[in-house]
Amino acid sequence: MPSKIIKIGQISDPHIGDTEEFVQGIDVRANFLKALHSPSMQNLDLLVLSGDLANENAEPGGYHFIKEQIKDYPVPVCIIPGNHDRIEIMRDFYDLEVKNGKCYYSVEVCGRKVFFIDSACGEVSRDQLDWLEREVPKADGEVLMFMHHPPCFCNHRFMDLRFHLNNMIEVQQVLSKFNNLTHIFCGHYHSFFEVEFGRQVVHVAPSTQMQIDPNTPYFNMKSSAPGWFTINWGEDFVDTQVHF
Ligand SMILES: [Fe+2]
Repeated sequence: MPSKIIKIGQISDPHIGDTEEFVQGIDVRANFLKALHSPSMQNLDLLVLSGDLANENAEPGGYHFIKEQIKDYPVPVCIIPGNHDRIEIMRDFYDLEVKNGKCYYSVEVCGRKVFFIDSACGEVSRDQLDWLEREVPKADGEVLMFMHHPPCFCNHRFMDLRFHLNNMIEVQQVLSKFNNLTHIFCGHYHSFFEVEFGRQVVHVAPSTQMQIDPNTPYFNMKSSAPGWFTINWGEDFVDTQVHF
């Protein structure tokens, strides 16, 4: 009997503010809800919120809003922080696994392993890389990984220049050792990319807040429409759909 195809929804960078006031003229709460309640997000096995849940600086009102929206969610919700989040504040709202001040962990979904990494400070700490080196090869079969920052440049002229992952080379050296980690899912860049490097394909989810023009070296909003991912993970394939 073929193994089940696992369906994962990924919402990234909702940037919810403390109050209902619009953020940069955008109704970010409505954008988040559009993704969460989209017909494309039905029948998930796992929902991932991949960072920058809060708008600028870990606003509790943003965390409270998201908590209310996911409290009766029918499947597990996995959360990692982004550079605008602070786990010491997020912990008041979500049940986060924190070790050495970082929120990193793995979960099993239908018998298969998914890894979550904390790059909120702009780097992946050495203890997380050591943990990946120990745990990824131990996993039975192919695994997936989520982190906020892409671990490579993506040809986004604004984000690559100003907000790239600081210790990219160190992270790439570790990733290059894995035979069973082929697909990495990120956010942070507010733009959809699929980048191949080495053994991995890096899938960069659009934001539900807004999309940033990748073709200008300065900030330029491309669209205020929310975007998100759905991922179908079969025994020998990963099929990612982007939705706007
Ligand atoms: Fe970010």
